[in-house]
Amino acid sequence: MYNEGRCIPKTVRFLMMLRHQRYRIPMPYVVTEACINCKHTDCVEVCPVDCFYEGPNFLVIHPDECIDCNACVPVCPVEAIYADDELPTELEHYAEWNSYLANQWQELGHNITEKKDPLPEAEEWASKEKSEQDILTYEEE
Ligand code: SF4
Ligand code: F3S
Repeated sequence: MYNEGRCIPKTVRFLMMLRHQRYRIPMPYVVTEACINCKHTDCVEVCPVDCFYEGPNFLVIHPDECIDCNACVPVCPVEAIYADDELPTELEHYAEWNSYLANQWQELGHNITEKKDPLPEAEEWASKEKSEQDILTYEEE
């Protein structure tokens, strides 16, 4: 028998399903500007799938490996990590940089899974203006 009080209308069920599906799609996380010349590396210790890759003065997340667990976000002391759908507009281009550099540094074998000391100039750079142009990478062979 139809019980109006307990029945979820079809449209609401449809919206709930869409919402459920949306949250089941893994959302890659992205390392942004604040990491440049700092590299605190607390993030790599908590990542359950070891999807961080290291350059000389920046870390990136491999978008195909990140499982969207959010563990790295609260441990970064400079708040450099965002879910890609929460990136502030001025940092959106870092999603591309993470993807591009993660593939390059993965090929070179620069997966990082253990914490190490931050760069010596981390404190000084924490308050400096920087951009993606400050990211260093390795010479192509
Ligand atoms: Fe790793 Fe989780 Fe951060 Fe993705 S969100 S990089 S899986 S710790
Ligand atoms: Fe960079 Fe923050 Fe990790 S500074 S290395 S994203 S902990």
